[in-house]
Amino acid sequence: MPKPTTVFTCTACGATHKKWAGRCDACGQWNTIVEEAPLSQGPGRGLGAIKGRAIPLSNLQAHEAPPPRINAGIAELDRVLGGGLVPGSALLVGGDPGIGKSTLLLQAAAAFSNAGKHAIYISGEEASAQVRMRAHRLGLAEAPMRLGAETNLRDILTTLDAERPDVAVIDSIQTLWSDTVEAAPGSVSQVRASAHELVTFAKRRGVAVILVGHVTKEGQIAGPRVVEHMVDTVLYFEGERGHQFRILRSVKNRFGPAGEIGVFEMTGAGLAEVTNPSALFLSERGQPVAGSAVFAGIEGTRPVLTEVQALVAPSTLASPRRTVVGLDSGRVSTILAVLEARCGIPFAGLDVFLNVAGGMKVVEPAADLAIAAALLSAREDSALPADAVLFGEISLSGALRPVAQAENRLKEAQKLGFTQAILPDATKVEGNDNERGGMGFRRIADLTGFVGEVFGAG
Ligand code: TYD
Ligand code: MG
Repeated sequence: MPKPTTVFTCTACGATHKKWAGRCDACGQWNTIVEEAPLSQGPGRGLGAIKGRAIPLSNLQAHEAPPPRINAGIAELDRVLGGGLVPGSALLVGGDPGIGKSTLLLQAAAAFSNAGKHAIYISGEEASAQVRMRAHRLGLAEAPMRLGAETNLRDILTTLDAERPDVAVIDSIQTLWSDTVEAAPGSVSQVRASAHELVTFAKRRGVAVILVGHVTKEGQIAGPRVVEHMVDTVLYFEGERGHQFRILRSVKNRFGPAGEIGVFEMTGAGLAEVTNPSALFLSERGQPVAGSAVFAGIEGTRPVLTEVQALVAPSTLASPRRTVVGLDSGRVSTILAVLEARCGIPFAGLDVFLNVAGGMKVVEPAADLAIAAALLSAREDSALPADAVLFGEISLSGALRPVAQAENRLKEAQKLGFTQAILPDATKVEGNDNERGGMGFRRIADLTGFVGEVFGAG
């Protein structure tokens, strides 16, 4: 068999190609393909080359207890993990540089050690003294956790093997280098090899390994996307630079629900838990203004109220601006098209700016009605009732579809003092269909009906 020469790997998705190309066929990204040393091949090809050992197989009847959990005592983190960290699991915490990953995981490692667990934090980016200084600033100086600064994977694994901690944080996966791979730290093959060895180590030794990964838009540094498939749990730490709110979101979890969020606030003394995110996201709301709509959403298992803000202004551009932050821009385009085609309300010649207050990301289709309401309110320059929340999915025909967990959304809104809910006609609620405990339900069948009911035109 001829020895393979080199392979070309996409830094964005990890796909391998035989030759270089400007665009990756697998993910469609441009300028992400780099040359890499080949992965080692097995001893030969075909059935004659099967030389492995038989693995023990089992049936489905075995009674295994659910995995025990390690709790940090940071409620927002424990919930996102699905009730705590599972021993021997591998976790990836991704996020933009500077968002607060190191701060979060230093605080988490300290919390695990305060809870009586053996926790090690290995930094490949900062010297131990720097991490210690940060820990002092965060008021964690007394925590019995252990600290290391190293980038050599072999040394890190040897240390972890000798120490056998319950939890090990590796900050970050991009700084590691394994001497078995001839590529620079941060390259796809280094990141993949290091992550693979650490994940294997986690399973074999029962150590929960938390990997930190920087996400870059340019695709120059290997994104942790290749690592996502290897680990049990993937968390993303999100937030807007200018805002102090940070959201930890589980996008994959083999041991709990995905889509769960934890909300934190970046303060001078590190990340503080936010136990009532709705109140926080609505805290900047003053008098009712045109273009503002309160969406009663569900994030994971929790109801969260957020404010959708819209600004609509005459455009001087041939193709007007559609600037969307924190919402799905495809969804927004669809809603604009439905407003135009079904309600006869055009947005041509108008710039549209939409965002979610507080740097929150909302991906639920249930936000459709709140988005449409904010857009209409901005366009008509007419404020929505200040005490109203909205939710509902808009179909292409303009009809409003009911959404899941209406009861939870309404309860949260009621708790925060809202007295009316604008919702799809077919929404099922417990008890009375039109009112409950001081909250009135305005039931709407379709978008045209909504325009007529709320803005008095149709
Ligand atoms: P960091 O955890 O280093 O981010 P990452 O590891 O994701 O790159 O956080 C960096 C930012 O957080 C930095 O801009 C300063 C800010 N910060 C605070 O506001 N308060 C604090 O107590 C700490 C430690 C950091
Ligand atoms: Mg960092």
